[in-house]
Amino acid sequence: MQSLQEKAAQWSGVDQEDAFAIDGTNLFEKLGLPTFVNLSTNFYTRVYDDEEEWFRSIFANSKKEEAIQNQYEFFVQRMGGPPLYSQRKGHPALIGRHRPFPVTRQAAERWLHHMQQALDSIAEIDDDSKTKMMNFFRHTAFFLVAGDELKNQNQQVPCKHAASKPAAA
Ligand code: HEM
Repeated sequence: MQSLQEKAAQWSGVDQEDAFAIDGTNLFEKLGLPTFVNLSTNFYTRVYDDEEEWFRSIFANSKKEEAIQNQYEFFVQRMGGPPLYSQRKGHPALIGRHRPFPVTRQAAERWLHHMQQALDSIAEIDDDSKTKMMNFFRHTAFFLVAGDELKNQNQQVPCKHAASKPAAA
């Protein structure tokens, strides 16, 4: 059976090596905290203003300011900075934390569309960093889609549910 990582690579078109090229440079040191805050603010402004109601509604029960902080703290910690996210909230466990939301392929593409636009509108982010970040985001988005599909399968087969909880990201 294909692992979630293998599915993520296949569905996103980004292999593991490219997805985790973010670990080859310290993007936090290169870009600095204000750039990460700007990126997440720009991204979530696009999400909360999305003309696509189906996508906007996924975030309807989340407060924009909290979503921004959650996201940039996670990015900072994952890209070489201090563990701001885990100090405040514990393990990121991305699949588990996305469990309440419909993370479909269509939602992943919409999320990535807004993230690409956000990256493109921030002048401080050079092209190489942009490519590295986008590869990581694309792979992770489809990793979450793979986790979401597992959740849906488990719901259809309740007897398997307890034994096959999705692994924490
Ligand atoms: C694939 C499409 C995605 C959808 C539809 C989605 C949706 C959501 C929603 C609705 C939230 C709750 C907002 C909040 O309160 O923080 C959230 C949180 C979060 N997302 Fe995503 N997300 C997606 C992809 C991603 C990706 C690719 C990453 C990382 C690269 C990511 C990282 C996070 C983090 C760190 C949080 C905060 C979790 C928490 O602290 O509860 N998401 N996402």
